[in-house]
Formats: sequence, C-alpha cells, structure tokens
Amino acid sequence: MLVTGGAGFIGTNFVLRIAETRPDWRVRVLDALTYAGNPDNLAGVADRVELVRGSVADAELVDRLVGESDVVVHFAAESHNDNSLDDPWPFVETNVLGTYHLLQAVRRHDVRLHHVSTDEVYGDLELDDPQRFTEQTSYNPSSPYSATKASADLLVRAWVRSFGVRATLSNCSNNYGPYQHVEKFIPRQITNILQGVKPKLYGQGTNVRDWIHVDDHNDAVVTIVEQGRLGETYLIGADGERNNREIVELLLDLMGKPADWYDLVSDRPGHDLRYAIDSAKLRAETGWTPRYRDVRAGLEQTVAWYSGHEDWWRAAKEGAEATYQRLGR
Ligand code: NAD
Ligand code: DAU
Repeated sequence: MLVTGGAGFIGTNFVLRIAETRPDWRVRVLDALTYAGNPDNLAGVADRVELVRGSVADAELVDRLVGESDVVVHFAAESHNDNSLDDPWPFVETNVLGTYHLLQAVRRHDVRLHHVSTDEVYGDLELDDPQRFTEQTSYNPSSPYSATKASADLLVRAWVRSFGVRATLSNCSNNYGPYQHVEKFIPRQITNILQGVKPKLYGQGTNVRDWIHVDDHNDAVVTIVEQGRLGETYLIGADGERNNREIVELLLDLMGKPADWYDLVSDRPGHDLRYAIDSAKLRAETGWTPRYRDVRAGLEQTVAWYSGHEDWWRAAKEGAEATYQRLGR
C-alpha cells in the first residue's frame, strides 16, 4: 500500500493504525514533509513502514512508486483554509496537479486508488437548515482550499468514468485527535490554554463543524478500501455537530478554566457557516459505525495527548502563532 501524506495528521494516525491492525500489509509512505509533515511520527514503525520524501507533483517519482504498489490511499494535500487564503498556489500544485499525476499513474499501472477528500467541497449550510450533506449534494466550494479539493474529486470521477480507473472517494467532516498540527482549531486552543493564553474564536464563535475522531475516519477509509464499490463516493461523519464556542467551552471545562475565558478575533474571509454529514450510505453498505460517540470524551483524550507531548508541538506553535498574528487572527 502506498500512502501519500502519511506523515501528516490523518495519514500518521492511518499508518500507525494499519501497522497495528493489519500486520501483514506492507506500507510505503510518500510525503513531501512540508511544515505539516513530521517524519518522527513514524519512527516507532520505521522497521515496517518505508518513508519516501517526495512530492505527489513529481510525475516520475509518483509513476515509479505507484507501479510498485497494489493500492494507493491518497491523503497528501495542503489542508489549511487560512493558508489557502494567504497563498493559494501550493494548494493548486499539490491538491490538483498532484492528484492528476497520481491518477495518470494508477491508470497506467491499473492500481486501485482511494482518494481522501473533505465535506467542504459542498460549500456550507445555514445554521437552521434541516438538511445535511449527502453524496447527492451539489459541489459548491468556497475557499481556495476547498476549490482545489473539489477539483481533485472531479478529476478522480472523470478518470473513473472515462478511463475505467479503479477508485473510490470519501468526503469526511472535521477530524480531531493526536498529531494534528497546532494551526488547526482544536490543537490551537488546547496549546493556547496550556501556555496560559486565551482561546481565539473567529467572529462570534457561532460557526458549526461536524466533529469526528481521526480513528473513526481512518476505520472508515480502511472499510472503503476493503468493501467500497468501485467508482462510488462515501460521506464519513459521526453526528458530532457543535459550534466553535461550544467546543472552546468544553475545552475550558476539561482544562479547569472559566467558561468565558476566550477572545473573539476577526473572522476568516468567506468563513463557511456550517458543515453537517449524513453518512447513512457508508453505514448501510458496510456496517461501519463511529466508536467515539461522545465528543467530550474524545476531546479529553486529545487534551491528554497534547499535555503529554509538548516537545512534539512546541516548535510548530511559535511559527503558527506568528502567522496568525500577521493575519490578525
Ligand atoms: P495535514 O496538513 O496534517 O497533512 C498533509 C500531509 O501531506 C503532510 O504530511 C504534508 O507533508 C503532506 N504533503 C503536502 N504536500 C505534499 C506533496 N506535494 N506531496 C506529498 N506530500 C505532501 O492534513 P490532514 O488534516 O492530515 O489531511 C489529510 C487529508 O485529509 C487531506 O487530503 C485533507 O483534505 C483530508 N481531510 C482532512 C480533514 C481534517 O479535518 N483534517 C477532514 C476531511 C478530509
Ligand atoms: O471539514 C473538513 C475540513 O476541516 C478539512 O477539509 C480541512 O483540512 C480542515 O482544516 C478543517 O477545515 P476548517 O476550516 O473547518 O478547520 P479549522 O481547524 O481551520 O477551523 C475549524 C473552525 O474553527 C472554523 O469554523 C474556523 C474556526 N477557528 C479556527 C481557528 C484556527 C476559530 O474560531 N479559531 C481559530 O483559532
């Protein structure tokens, strides 16, 4: 199995989980080791997982590695909305061109592909909309990040239909858990509180995200690789809708701070209001179901992980906060 982006947040958790639950699978990671990728994450499985440093935008390298694989799971991406508003080019290069090169390689070598994507391709919902996203929802991405992920999804669908590429796609909601970069919402607030700094809420903190533990996402990806119907898209979600203020209040409570100990800061331009996933198709076809049903318990585990791994996040924290200071958030 070739895992692109296997040194990032979700990819790391995926590789560690595969090493634990599928000891007979041979795994190779292709990762550019950008600011978001950390090779130390995979040190504990180095005897069983080969890490190749390189870009999915490197057509020759991708062709060689794909040709030596039976299945590719494609996590590699530029993943942070705020960065995509600041400098969109790396998002186009990695998310669009990188996916194009992978598709051409799996097509040439007839290799099975699973493409990992996001619910953000569907745009956003009103706060009071009774609908959730389904596989039938129209694409309507808002940010440069989500537009490049939508572009990649459409390339995958076209390669399936036009060239018979053996691929599945999944679109998941917001993940949380260990190894997430401190630029992202939940790790930023946990590490702020650990450093005695107030959490920062964009706007009024009323935007809603549908939270899922990273292990539940990755179990769903393995399930789709093993049971998914070729050419199909599956939405992955765990019924975890909370607004951002509710998440901060949970963290403050877990970490022994007053419920109003946060700052409201300037909003993200074009900030999507609400995401919500209906994952009935995946559950009905495969029997997959989330194991982390209690967001508070999942956050408690995540707080414990960041509290015990300051040496993992301290260096990245300074850089992330310098960027937020420049952006006024
Ligand atoms: P991340 O930013 O933590 O990790 C991305 C990884 O990709 C890093 O290791 C980075 O070094 C690597 N990478 C970046 N550019 C590369 C390139 N050109 N070639 C090879 N590797 C490269 O991201 P994440 O949160 O782990 O997201 C992984 C995937 O899951 C992405 O495709 C993202 O769109 C998708 N996704 C994320 C979430 C979420 O909540 N984080 C939800 C749904 C879908
Ligand atoms: O929905 C899936 C997507 O979730 C993934 O495709 C993306 O890769 C992932 O980054 C995430 O996108 P979001 O933009 O939703 O995540 P982020 O962690 O940046 O922000 C979550 C919410 O919190 C969002 O409403 C913005 C808000 N926020 C974020 C930060 C960093 C704050 O209020 N304060 C903050 O400091």
